[in-house]
Parts: sequence; C-alpha cells; structure tokens
Amino acid sequence: MREHARRLDLLPPYLFAELDAAKAEYGEGVIDFGVGDPDQPTHPEIVNALTMAVGDHNTHRYPDYCGTLTLRRDIARWYKRRFGVELDPEREICILIGSKEGISHLIWALVDPGDEAIYPDPSYPVYRNQILLAGGNPIPAPLFADNHFLMDIPRLRATSKTKLLILNYPSNPTAALTEQIHFSEAVQFARSHNMWLVNDNCYSEIYFDEKPPSILSAPGARDCAVEFGSFSKTFNMTGWRLGFAVGNERMIAALKKIKQNTDSGPFTAIQRAAQTALELADEIGPQIRKLYKSRRGALLAGLNRLGWVVPAPKATFYVWARIPRQGQTSMGFSKRMLAETGVLATPGVGFGEAGEGYLRFSLTIDRTLIEEAIGRLEKWL
Ligand SMILES: Cc1ncc(COP(=O)(O)O)c(C=O)c1O
Repeated sequence: MREHARRLDLLPPYLFAELDAAKAEYGEGVIDFGVGDPDQPTHPEIVNALTMAVGDHNTHRYPDYCGTLTLRRDIARWYKRRFGVELDPEREICILIGSKEGISHLIWALVDPGDEAIYPDPSYPVYRNQILLAGGNPIPAPLFADNHFLMDIPRLRATSKTKLLILNYPSNPTAALTEQIHFSEAVQFARSHNMWLVNDNCYSEIYFDEKPPSILSAPGARDCAVEFGSFSKTFNMTGWRLGFAVGNERMIAALKKIKQNTDSGPFTAIQRAAQTALELADEIGPQIRKLYKSRRGALLAGLNRLGWVVPAPKATFYVWARIPRQGQTSMGFSKRMLAETGVLATPGVGFGEAGEGYLRFSLTIDRTLIEEAIGRLEKWL
C-alpha cells in the first residue's frame, strides 16, 4: 500500500471540520463572519485592463520568473511614495502568485531541517505549517492584549539554530498595528542573532487612522529583512493571485531560486492589470477604508450595546473579540453561537494556542447583515 510523504503527518488536523458540519446543518441563513475574503468586486478599470491584456498574444507565453520589470518598477515607485523606501526593481523585488505562495517558498528557501523559526501566536496558520513542512521547529511567540498584541522582542529567546523571525503587522487575526520603533527593535534583534526577518504586510492599506509602516524603513532592515505585500485585500483581488516580496537581495535571490524550480510566475496579463491597480491606489484605498470603517462601527456599536465590549481595531478588516462568557473555549462558544443564532465567527484557537478565548469577526459582509447578526445575538446573549 502506497503512503503519502511523512511530512504531511506533521500538519495539524483540520480544526474547523466540526464547524463546517454545523454550518451545513444550519443551512441557509448563516451570517458568515468567518472568511477574510473581500466581498466587493475588483474595480472595473482593473478588469478592463486584464481584458485588454488577455487579448494581446504577447502575454500568452511563460511569464518572467520574478515578474515583469514594468510591474516591479511600478511597485518600487509605489513603495517610495507610500513608505519612503527606495527599492531596486532588478534585485530587491519578486512578484508572486499571491503572498501565500511567496511566504511558503521563502520559508523553504531559508529554513533547514532542525532550524528554529519564531512566528507570532495567534497568526495566519501558513507560517507554522510551512515551517513544519520544511522540517523546521516552529517557535510560537505569544501576543497578549496587555502588550497591544505586539511581539515582546526583548523576551524572545534565540539559539544558534534560530534562523528566522516572522512578524505580521497589521496583524491577522488580532488587527494590531505596530510602530516603526517596534520594527527597529526586531531588526536589531535579528541582526544581533544573525537571523532573517520577515514582515507580512499584506494588510498595509487597510487602516483607520495611522498608516501602517514598512519594516524596510527601519535602520539596517535591508541587511536582513523581506516584506510581503499583496493585491488581494487592497484591491479586492483575492481570486487573481498576485503579491510581491521586497527587500534583502539575498533573501529575494533565494526565493527566486525556489520559484524557478517550482512555478513560472503569475500570468503576465494579470501583472499588467496590476499596474492599473497601482495607478488607482489613491482612489481605491480611501473607498475600502471608508467601507470597512462603516462596518467596523456597526459591529462594535452593536456588540457594545449587548454589553460585549470590544476594542476598535486600528487596521485590517478583522475584529478580535474576547468571548464574553468565561470558562468556555473559543471553539465551544463559536459552535453554540452558530447552532443557536446562525452567526459564524472564527474561533481564536484556530490561529494558535494564544488565540484561545477569542473570536475573529471578518468585516467582509454587508452592513445590513452585520445589523441582522447583532439582532440575533441580542436575543441570544
Ligand atoms: C496574514 C496573511 N498573510 C497572507 C495572506 C495571503 O494572501 P494572498 O492572497 O496574497 O496570498 C493572508 C490571507 O488571508 C493573510 O491573512
């Protein structure tokens, strides 16, 4: 009998199977705050740009491995304008089939079997799972509310085997934003322990007051850090699969080497359409921020009215809410809430042990549904 590779057994069991079954059992009418996938369509000018590009047969051949130089140049210009960071499009930028692909491949490019890699807990599960698949040893760094969900850098422990530190600000699922000073501290830590540093900045354009910074503007970051960006959330383009990695030349070269042997880069027509997206950034950014701000207001005001007091997120389209009933697990609470009200939010434990006690609400559903959910919860809580 043939077996799959043993490395697959390293992955944790799928936690949400019971929740999926409960959702199916509830049937029609579930109000789903679970998925972090924008509900708005991609801007029509971006769609038109794709249509035009598809019609040009020059886009039909294999793309450049690290993306078209024109898109890389546009990203460099956008980085300069948005973050004040200069990038060399030839050596410091790689276009990706979504940031998920790049994060996964960069981990494979940097982590050897037995190496340690520090990642935030709670966080996007891909970090931990890819460290495991690469044969590494994932070291969770817990994020706590009383430290504003910032990673406590001075308390991190590094050994000669610690190779990589992963940050994610603005953060999924905690919605935390960080300041430049925290990035500088992380850069100093990474440099002093001779490790690589990554910031996943794929929510950089979804913020409410302060603009999220880039780790690359921290002094010394270019020596050790790469940052990920994505067209997915900023431009309502999750299905298009387009992201980018920028920063340290050696890390980018390592990522390219893996990619050259794994994929052949995103469809050139999509990369052309992405250039239009960047041209529209100053129009689309304010629109999506306004939309999520209005939804955030509706959810928080409603929960507050029910006595469920939740701090306002500073960035991302998530609301990270402590469950209001002590002594219940996030999974148990989420399952009961779903079964009894049809309102679904993701149990915090799905993002790591330190996420226990929380639920993540994603603001990717319409305001009227948010208000209906509050009405249902009012009768239930
Ligand atoms: C923190 C974080 N990083 C990366 C991704 C992947 O995004 P992309 O669509 O660019 O692959 C997600 C998607 O939800 C995410 O939440």
